[in-house]
Amino acid sequence: MKWLFPIDRHAISRDFIQFTKRMKYFSQACENNKQPILEILKRVLKGCHQVLEIGSGSGQHAVYFGKQLPHLTWQPTETLEGIAILKENLVSLSAPSNVLTPLVLDVNQPLWPLDSVANIFSANTLHILAWEEVELFFKGVGALLKPKGLLCVYGPFRYQGNYTSLSNAEFDSWLKAQDVERGIRDFEAVNTLAEEQGLELKEDYAMPANNQFLIWQRSEKINS
Ligand SMILES: C[S@@+](CC[C@H](N)C(=O)[O-])C[C@H]1O[C@@H](n2cnc3c(N)ncnc32)[C@H](O)[C@@H]1O
Repeated sequence: MKWLFPIDRHAISRDFIQFTKRMKYFSQACENNKQPILEILKRVLKGCHQVLEIGSGSGQHAVYFGKQLPHLTWQPTETLEGIAILKENLVSLSAPSNVLTPLVLDVNQPLWPLDSVANIFSANTLHILAWEEVELFFKGVGALLKPKGLLCVYGPFRYQGNYTSLSNAEFDSWLKAQDVERGIRDFEAVNTLAEEQGLELKEDYAMPANNQFLIWQRSEKINS
């Protein structure tokens, strides 16, 4: 295929450097995984109107998915510590209007900032949270997610006690060296927490870079 317009590769990389410099916190992993994640979100969120993101970090996912999925509102959230940087990044990245003003959400908060939500997305958070916080994550999701709503979680997992790659085993050791509470979670243990909240696993995709994309759906009737 021949391009109609010549591409100035130096200009592209100059723009990219400027773009990353304007940001307070940039994640190369987000740049790498956003397209494969989007391909799945496009399908599973077809006809959906709202997503709450937990642990938005740099805001790169919020902006990319917000731009590519204009039919829905994307609600980014961050901890009190990270919210100012997230807000600045959303401005630097020219977040579209369907990406809402970020809210403070720490899974340890007794009250989460919304009463209910149609769908929830979270990337690369469960191995950063302590296990007690992972339990709070699922309790919070259970309190918020509407019947038939989706919980979409991206990140590395172990299956039956096995890492999906040597690099994930090394990553797990590195995480624990940073903080003993962190670590790659066992899919089975996480799935049990999800099931306790009336969530049923619908899809489990093996993604590039040895990550998984797990999608649960809330049952139609919620037992309170
Ligand atoms: C590895 S970063 C992932 C950020 C982003 N989702 C991504 O994919 O690049 C982990 C995120 O979890 C957030 N986080 C840490 N502790 C949290 C907590 N207690 N409640 C909610 N989010 C938390 C961090 O602030 C950070 O944004």
